Order: sequence, then structure tokens, then C-alpha cells
Amino acid sequence: MAATVSAPPGPRVLAVLRRRSYRSFRPDPLPAETVRALRDVVASAPSVEGRRSGRVLVVDEPDAVRRMPRAVTAGLVGKINPWLLRSNPPVFLIVTGDSRSGLRDGDRHWYNVDGAVAGQLAVLEATGRGVGSCWVAGFHERSVAEAAGLGEGERPLAVIPVGHPAVGPDSGGSWLGRGWDAAAQRVLSGRRKPLERIAHRGRFGVPFVAGRVPWAARGVQGDEHAVWPGLGPLRPAGGFTGEPVDESRLAALLECARWAPSAENSQIARHVVVEGRTATAALLAAAFPDAAFEGDTLPPLVVVGLAAPFPIRARTREQPFFLIDVPIAVTNLLVAAGELGLGWQAAFRFEHRAVAAHLGVPDDHRVVALAALGFAAEPPAPGPRSPLDQLRPPEQAGGAARSS
Ligand SMILES: Cc1cc2nc3c(=O)[nH]c(=O)nc-3n(C[C@H](O)[C@H](O)[C@H](O)COP(=O)(O)O)c2cc1C
Repeated sequence: MAATVSAPPGPRVLAVLRRRSYRSFRPDPLPAETVRALRDVVASAPSVEGRRSGRVLVVDEPDAVRRMPRAVTAGLVGKINPWLLRSNPPVFLIVTGDSRSGLRDGDRHWYNVDGAVAGQLAVLEATGRGVGSCWVAGFHERSVAEAAGLGEGERPLAVIPVGHPAVGPDSGGSWLGRGWDAAAQRVLSGRRKPLERIAHRGRFGVPFVAGRVPWAARGVQGDEHAVWPGLGPLRPAGGFTGEPVDESRLAALLECARWAPSAENSQIARHVVVEGRTATAALLAAAFPDAAFEGDTLPPLVVVGLAAPFPIRARTREQPFFLIDVPIAVTNLLVAAGELGLGWQAAFRFEHRAVAAHLGVPDDHRVVALAALGFAAEPPAPGPRSPLDQLRPPEQAGGAARSS
């Protein structure tokens, strides 16, 4: 079995663990290189079937940036974010979905997943560069669409202000921004459910009890002078060896998912860990009844991502962000997997109900994602693509991919 995870972990895992939401920024512009890096990350982000039904715009044009806080806070829902009017971010990321020709199955619009993945990758790239951000989903949709110049049928899903964090009285931020930031830190950000409440082993309801991962905590120390290597492209593996994933890697992956941001800190993401090729074969037979998986191509580990129910107060209805929050947590997990030496494939389109029945998931939870994990087979196994391999880089052929 491979060696356990060394501490402190690498820079990308540190970025996942250190990220937190900032709501107050210094007004100075971001370096051009940082803006370029954000554009590169969102342009190369993988999407469901490589279709890019959702995308992320990087808005740094000063007039557009100036318009955005008013647009966000224009309607009733946007009023929950008054801090944005005083927070002075030099850049906004606008996460959007193509509601006309974007890929969907029933009411599952996959643009949500694409936007969540690309948005969170940009957030992590920013974090690695010492730049702060905050996912914002409480905004006035029409005003934001206008301010961002979105085309017909393109919906804004989230707005992410980005800038150098302003923390402390001499930081250059406004008092409202700093005060809101400090209060949100106390009331919301630092709180996380323990791992055994959000992760299950083998079957829903069996708590995942991990050995402690001492370094997997917010504010974890690393080498402060280490050069940020860049997030690098998030690419699926061609296949897996049968070598099992050790407990320390598994616990680290789940910790990285646990520290993901979520709307109202609802922390709705749940994970069922399915280990061993016998168990993953049975799971995948439920998920893809028409597919045949060869024994030696099966992943040794699948983490099934679920959404627990949670009513969002500002909207007084069921959490509308389950297709965003859970994929954000999955993105954290996949980024960490790469750095921990693991390959991955991820699927969102499969028989969700059959998987729920197979794992004993209660009716009020929704199955969202399958993250297959293991040591990547070298060279990638030839042959047809696995049904698990759905989160893929932009399609090259035929110019199907849109630019950001
Ligand atoms: C989809 C989504 C929507 C969010 N919307 C808002 C928002 O409208 N206003 C806000 O202040 N924070 C918003 N947040 C940030 C969460 O409040 C924050 O992630 C959570 O409190 C956890 O704190 P952390 O990000 O510092 O870990 C949102 C986060 C996500 C993922």
C-alpha cells in the first residue's frame, strides 16, 4: 500500500484548507498575471460531458466592476448583501449557465455543475495567490445579467467578488466591509459539522470515523515562502490500478470536501464512501445498469456525493443550490486527490434513485455525484470511455467549446 500523507501537505491542499470567504477588500487592482491566471483556470475547467453548459466570466473592466455591487443588491434577495456596496473588489467572477442549449436531464441543469467547478477552481487559484473571494448567490438576477452583459438565455448563477483581503483597521477596507467580514467569520465561516456527521462508510447512516488528520484544519501552517505553483489543469484519469486508497488519503480528501464553502454555510454535502472493487462494481451496476465494467478497470474507491435537505432562509424555500454546493465540495476533493497522487473520474448523469436505494439514502436527500478515485493506471487504459468519465476538459472538435 502507498505511503500515508505527509504533513504539511502540498500547496493545493493548503489552498483548499485555508480558503475562507472574504467580504472586505483593498481597492488596489489585482496584478495582470493574477487576472490572466484566473482566466486560464476557468477556460480550461472541465465540465459535464465537456459541454461547458455553464461558464465563468472574469470581469475586471473598471466600469463593469463599479456597476456590479448595485446590480447585485438591486432586488429584495440582494439586500442580504449590503456589505458588497462597501467592499471594493477590483474583480468579479460571474458564474453563468446557458438555460437554452445547456445540457440537462429533467430539472437537473448541468450548467450548475459546470459553473460550480469552474468557479471553485478560480477561487482556489486566487487563494493560492493570497487573493480573497466570496461566493454570492443572493443577488438580483436581471440586474446582474445586464451589468455583466450576458446574452439571451444566459443566467447568472453566482457572483464572486475577488480582491486582496482587507482585514484589520489599517488594511484600507471600509468599516462596514470589515465589520461584516469579522461578524460573518464568527457566526458562519468557522463552523463545520464533524466529519462523522457528513461522511458515511459503505452505506448511508454508518458514520465514517477517521483517524484524526492533525494538519487538516483551517489556518493550517505551511511553508509561507513556498512559491504557488498554480492550480494546474484538473484532468480525469484514464483508468485505475486496483491498489486501495489508504485511510490517511481518504480522510484528507473528505476533510478537503468538508471545508468547502456553501450557501448560508448550510453544509448540505454528504459523502458515502464505497471501498473495494466488489463494492464499487455493485454500486456502478446500480448507477449504470446498461454498462459493463471490466473488473480490472473498476475504481477501488467511489465517494458518492449527496445533498441533505436545507431551507434557505432568504428565499424561504428548499435549498436551491444543491447542484452548486455539492459540486463545489467535489471540486475540493478532486483538487486534493491530484495533489495526493490519486487519479479521479467523476459522473453526474446516472440512475440517482437506484444509487440512493442501493446505499439506503433517505428520500429527502438527493444523490448528486460519483467521484471514482484510485491510483491512475499507467499508461491510461485504452478502449471506450468509462461511463464514469463525464467531467471532462472542453471539447476541442468542431469548436463546441465557448471561450470565457
Ligand atoms: C452557492 C453559495 C452562495 C453563497 N451566497 C452568499 C451570499 O449571498 N452572501 C454571503 O455573504 N455569503 C455567501 N456565501 C458564502 C457562505 O456564507 C460561506 O461559504 C459559508 O458561510 C462558509 O464560510 P467560508 O466560505 O468562509 O468557509 C455563499 C456560498 C456559496 C457556496
